Amino acid sequence: WSLLKWTWRLIWVGSLGGLAYVGYGIYLGRTPAQQEDPDPKKKTLVVLGTGWGSVSLLKKLDTENYNVIVISPRNYFLFTPLLPSCTTGTIEHRSIMEPIRNFLRHKKAAVKYYEAEATKIDYEKKMVYIKDESEVKGNVSATEVPFDMLVVGVGAENATFGIPGVRENGCFLKEVPDAQKIRKRIMDCVETATFKDQSPEEIKRLLHMVVVGGGPTGVEFAGELQDFFEHDLRKWIPEIANNFHVTLVEALPSVLPSFSKNLIDYTEQTFKEETIEIRTKTMVKNVTEKYIEAEFTDASGKKQLEQIPYGLLVWATGNALRPVVKDLMSQIPAQKDSRRGLAVNEYLVVKGTENIWAVGDCAVANYAPTAQVAAQEGAFLARLFNQMAKTEQIELELAKLSDDQSKAPKEARDQIFNTMKDLQKRLRRVKQMGPFEYSHQGSLAYIGSEKAVADISWLTGNLATGGQLTYVFWRSAYLSMCFSSKCSSYEVKLVGG
Ligand code: FAD
Ligand code: NAI
Repeated sequence: WSLLKWTWRLIWVGSLGGLAYVGYGIYLGRTPAQQEDPDPKKKTLVVLGTGWGSVSLLKKLDTENYNVIVISPRNYFLFTPLLPSCTTGTIEHRSIMEPIRNFLRHKKAAVKYYEAEATKIDYEKKMVYIKDESEVKGNVSATEVPFDMLVVGVGAENATFGIPGVRENGCFLKEVPDAQKIRKRIMDCVETATFKDQSPEEIKRLLHMVVVGGGPTGVEFAGELQDFFEHDLRKWIPEIANNFHVTLVEALPSVLPSFSKNLIDYTEQTFKEETIEIRTKTMVKNVTEKYIEAEFTDASGKKQLEQIPYGLLVWATGNALRPVVKDLMSQIPAQKDSRRGLAVNEYLVVKGTENIWAVGDCAVANYAPTAQVAAQEGAFLARLFNQMAKTEQIELELAKLSDDQSKAPKEARDQIFNTMKDLQKRLRRVKQMGPFEYSHQGSLAYIGSEKAVADISWLTGNLATGGQLTYVFWRSAYLSMCFSSKCSSYEVKLVGG
């Protein structure tokens, strides 16, 4: 009995201790220590962007080594993997945004942030020109920021391949306002379709939801939209049930080309069961206000042009270069053959430059443009910059010691010599940093009906899996990543999926 009592007491004390520990963690998270002021005498490191690459760099960077300035038109980090779920309200957009100011206040030395777009990078002058493009502007809304070191992490913009009418009539899915626009449009189409005396053809058109691009963005959105219809819209407005229809249009012979063949088949089969129509080998050539024009190959192998009426059009055909990146590339002869972004070397230095690095979707390092790659590149650069600062500091100490040694009395010289030997050893260790190596943790995509597909690397090899268990894995993996990035912004855990 006494043993039981003691065990009970121990459990209580343990739980209280655990609670106190968690409480202290939350307290620390909310009240960070006083920050050191930025030191303009140190090298100025300018970071462009607040996406996966840049935020991952800022998370691990020892900011006390540099005078750090962050420039981005978006004053929050966005957890993109859960953005498709915001289009239908499954996830509230605020829960996948982390204010950059809140994140930066936890750094040891203060970091300056300017909400602005970099409009031009002048490589020769080491200058970034910036413009406040937000709604509220002060007397000064354009200026310049000099840099010693620059990290370009501006991501990419939506590819349209110059297809007429896309920008005017389609919705993209990259940022929070895009998801909000889509959500509003879905409901507007539904309400307009049920407007008094609407003709049957017009109802059909308004309730036809077309997604162009069968990559992961298009597939995940189509799945979320069909779920929204099955779980909510069908119950709220039963009269639309026979006409609500989702079509996914893809130019290539299959959707999700970067996934394994069995997962492509599984996705296509699941979409069939969900009644999402997949139109492969169909390339959109033109977009008007009410229909898209697409070229497809018929059964006899002949190319045909078809007009497909739509109510909502979501355009998800991948990435294109941002103008500021294109302009920088045009200033550097070594970039002349690069088409998809800033070509970087194995240390992520922009080829043809010495003091500019690039991470994420705007960099070309032979990896897919994913959050996973961008986050690992950002973390690598943080380690590199921390080591560069340490190297510089040790070299300064060595130079000073060497000076002292020449002036010191004979008996002190041996001691200085030994200190220098230790420092040289440390310097060699610090300088031993290998190049960037990407470690692929696998790919995950939600395909609707509470099913997901996953191409995961295990110790024993690759695992390609799909279904409801994979969905549980997908949901819990992303929610836990999102939760950890929000809950402890001073210890943001960024792991792409
Ligand atoms: P971004 O995260 O796009 O950040 C770019 C930053 O630069 C932004 O802050 C932007 O405001 C800023 N910026 C833009 N222009 C300028 C300028 N001129 N000057 C200064 N700043 C500028 N990847 C995965 O690995 N797993 C997933 O599940 C996944 N899901 C996704 C779902 C969706 C809907 C989308 C769109 C993408 C998804 N991705 C996923 C891809 C992933 O989001 C990108 O690869 C990743 O965001 C790239 O990171 P980045 O830092 O290069 O760019
Ligand atoms: P994507 O580049 O992966 O796919 C775009 C698709 O659009 C291609 O299959 C292409 O053939 C098709 N297409 C292009 N033009 C077309 C046209 N005119 N008509 C019809 N189809 C056309 O683009 P996506 O899905 O936006 O992804 C971008 C990046 O983000 C990728 O690297 C992807 O891996 C990553 N991502 C990853 C996710 C995940 O892992 N779950 C989710 C979303 C994005």
